[in-house]
Amino acid sequence: MPAKRAHIQTFGCQMNEHDSQRMAKILESAGYEMTGDPAQAQVVLVNTCSVRENPENKVYSLLGRLRSLKKGGARVIIGVAGCVAQQEGEAILHREKCVDLVFGPDNYFDLPDMIAAAERGERVLNTEWLSGRQKVRNFIPEERMEQVALEGCKGYIAITKGCDNFCSFCIVPYTRGREVSREMDNILREARTMLEQGAKEIWLLGQNVNSYTADGAGFYELLDAVSRLDGLRRLRFTSPHPNDWNNRLSELMAERPAICNHLHLPFQAGGNRVLALMRRRHTIEDYLEKVRYMRAINPQLEISTDIIVGFPTESDEEFAWTLRVMDEVRFSQVFAFKYSVRPGTRAAGMEDDVPREVKEERLARVLELQERITEEQLRALAGSRHDVLIDGAHLRRQGVMNGRTEGFRPVSVPGGELEIGDLVPVRITGYRNHWLEAERLVNLSASA
Ligand code: 5AD
Ligand code: SF4
Repeated sequence: MPAKRAHIQTFGCQMNEHDSQRMAKILESAGYEMTGDPAQAQVVLVNTCSVRENPENKVYSLLGRLRSLKKGGARVIIGVAGCVAQQEGEAILHREKCVDLVFGPDNYFDLPDMIAAAERGERVLNTEWLSGRQKVRNFIPEERMEQVALEGCKGYIAITKGCDNFCSFCIVPYTRGREVSREMDNILREARTMLEQGAKEIWLLGQNVNSYTADGAGFYELLDAVSRLDGLRRLRFTSPHPNDWNNRLSELMAERPAICNHLHLPFQAGGNRVLALMRRRHTIEDYLEKVRYMRAINPQLEISTDIIVGFPTESDEEFAWTLRVMDEVRFSQVFAFKYSVRPGTRAAGMEDDVPREVKEERLARVLELQERITEEQLRALAGSRHDVLIDGAHLRRQGVMNGRTEGFRPVSVPGGELEIGDLVPVRITGYRNHWLEAERLVNLSASA
């Protein structure tokens, strides 16, 4: 009897990637093998994201293509998960007859039951919000502790779900609900299991990680505790909110070797009036002050960010502030987006009055400036020494492995004998596109 196979296609953020990994674990426990080819699968899931523009159109066009999987009466179950499923709900079942399951980010733990119902011919809609308590339990219940989501040498742990910030442009609080934090014990147990199973790097995930709070502990205590775990080489987290960031956290990052010197700290826009309309609850001066402090005590720190251009009423002058912030901070990476309306958010009540061409021009200027900054940074890195955590083989170059520096820059490293999870000292010799090139240094500490 051939194994049952499942295929999951994921859109969007790291939290979605993580949810897909968790779904894969649940399906594997139910006897499925994962496959990269939807045509080989008996269960095909699409894990959707609402953060980018026109998400519904993208999902419906993909579902249109998946329809052919059912041609000739083939028995395949098609499910739609994630934020678009949460928002569109029944409309998906109505509009796309090939879909058997629609379920939201709170509901994927019921997958085996939902699949069983679909096998009986039912069409399943499961977008109910869980209560806070159920949500906390569902992070990863005790009996599922062995099913941690490892990807090579990296383990991803959700520490919070949902978001209470209601930034005016953002759909997340509506698709993922109110924020809940998971118990610290449970997080530490999952982290230990991951380390026992070979993880070298752990990522703490949440929509707003540094608002974490459980059993009287905050993000500081959690980061402190995880960073002390035996065997952990690297600790990363995403994304913190500038308003919940403080100098104590910067100090902890600077002093604790396992906490990587990389921070993804979205600032969104350089103008204070725009930030207030975005309901970001911080000014650009607050942001820059925190950045100056962390750079002063931790000169190795690399900072990346998210930017939105063309938020309603943003003037040329206000946009110029965004460029000035980029010039001052010199981010290692910028994820820039043209503002687009998300129905139901507060900003949807404002006129989307920045013309498309203006948004495009602003976006181009952001990308151009960042290209110049990245180029200068890459050039300046020549000759510097780094430890690189190997996370895969180069796709085309034989005998070359890929990895990341502590600052999260991608590096190619010679050495076909290297294995995923090795931590190797290197010297940077140059760069190609956005990838650093390196030569190996003798591993005196034998730390790999
Ligand atoms: N329009 C444009 N960009 C958005 N983002 C979130 N919502 C919107 C929107 N409505 C961007 C923000 C956020 C990133 C994940 O996506 O910059 O930090
Ligand atoms: Fe969205 Fe703001 Fe919450 Fe981030 S902090 S998920 S941008 S509402």
